[in-house]
Amino acid sequence: MEVYKITGGNRLKGTIKVSGAKNSAVALIPASILADSPVTIEGLPAISDVLTLQALVEDIGGKVSFDQQNMVIDPTEIISMPLPNGNVKKLRASYYFMGAMLGRFKNAAIGLPGGCHLGPRPIDQHIKGFEALGAKVTNEHGAIYLRAEELRGAKIYLDVVSVGATINIMLAAVLAKGRTTIENAAKEPEIIDVATLLSNMGAKIKGAGTNVIRIDGVEKLHGTKHTIIPDRIEAGTFMIMAAAAGDGVMIDNVIPFHVEALTAKLREMGVDVVEEDERIFIPKAQDLQAVDVKTLVYPGFPTDLQQPFSVLLTQALGSSVITDTVYSARFKHIDELRRMNAVARVEGSTAILSGPTALEAATVRATDLRAGAALVLAGLLAEGETEVQEIQHIERGYSSLIDKLRGIGAQIQKVKIPAEAPVQE
Ligand code: EPU
Repeated sequence: MEVYKITGGNRLKGTIKVSGAKNSAVALIPASILADSPVTIEGLPAISDVLTLQALVEDIGGKVSFDQQNMVIDPTEIISMPLPNGNVKKLRASYYFMGAMLGRFKNAAIGLPGGCHLGPRPIDQHIKGFEALGAKVTNEHGAIYLRAEELRGAKIYLDVVSVGATINIMLAAVLAKGRTTIENAAKEPEIIDVATLLSNMGAKIKGAGTNVIRIDGVEKLHGTKHTIIPDRIEAGTFMIMAAAAGDGVMIDNVIPFHVEALTAKLREMGVDVVEEDERIFIPKAQDLQAVDVKTLVYPGFPTDLQQPFSVLLTQALGSSVITDTVYSARFKHIDELRRMNAVARVEGSTAILSGPTALEAATVRATDLRAGAALVLAGLLAEGETEVQEIQHIERGYSSLIDKLRGIGAQIQKVKIPAEAPVQE
């Protein structure tokens, strides 16, 4: 198995570049199959989730070329085929094929999605939206079947603000007859990015980025060229790493407005954050102060940064409380951090951390993507050599993480080690 070995204690210094947004990429690729001619997406991150989606498009007859940055998707020969298991189970965003296939073919059969285990992740709001548009939705043997005579625009109020449901309903509605209104829609920048691609393909969408989105269905969509937005979660991860272990780090290719909630929290802790047009500089931070954090939907503090941020809090003076209101059980990394000497405990949907603590190297497990990023940061800070296992979770979402971190002075490498014998009960 492959693991990351990290020798802690090296200060980070220099410039680190952010890739295209994972959570946009995983929606833009399925969105492309709604076109009747090739779509080019520029600046995609080279991550395993993107490769899995490429394979899924190919599974249904699409032709895809990807040079690790730009992808051309030719959807002209795509056919309506069930996508039961296999690749579908590797990631959560495979559920975007539900909306896209339903929109294009008026029917779809997709296995239930996989993705990070963050506690319950229902898709009832996606289904409520599809049904409102006229689809009959059934769950048969672990796959969701969607069938519609025709899709008709509808008014849909989301009971829960959901990124996935907002995008999925947009994907189904762009080719429906008449007007769809999504109320209580999510406002994440990734939603604007998907709406921009769809609009450039000929869709009529207004209000993306606000909590009311109006879509007037069109007859067909055509190919286009689109450049993806930078990954605000990757940028935020680097900002946190820079605050915890940096001697002056410039984060390049970031939209400062997209990371404002993090910037505000870092400043509250005593970190200087210098914003430029598309770059953020974090000078060496000293005397970090404890803060409380509550995760919220955008533009609130992102749940995806809560895990790396908790490592920074182990370096701050005093007691900090993190409350995750989006995924109340997203705290598996806390047990791993405790192996590294962190003073932390979980109570319900909160984690309480005290610091500053000198972290110690240990062998730890990346239980999910952002937990993995958190443990990499812990390894960068800890005395000794940390081994991070189950790095496949990290490589689902961070493009060239090792090379990027080595570029700013981290001592981190990927090594193959013999697989551990299973534990005998
Ligand atoms: N929810 C429902 N019903 C639904 C849909 C969602 O109850 O039908 C709940 C969820 O259980 C959760 C909340 O609503 O408590 C928000 O979930 P949302 O649908 O917004 O999440 P998602 O679309 O499945 C995306 C990102 C996640 C990120 C969340 C929240 C993608 C592929 N994933 O997930 O990213 O944590 O939004 O911002 O876009 C990550 O990148 O590490 C990651 C997990």
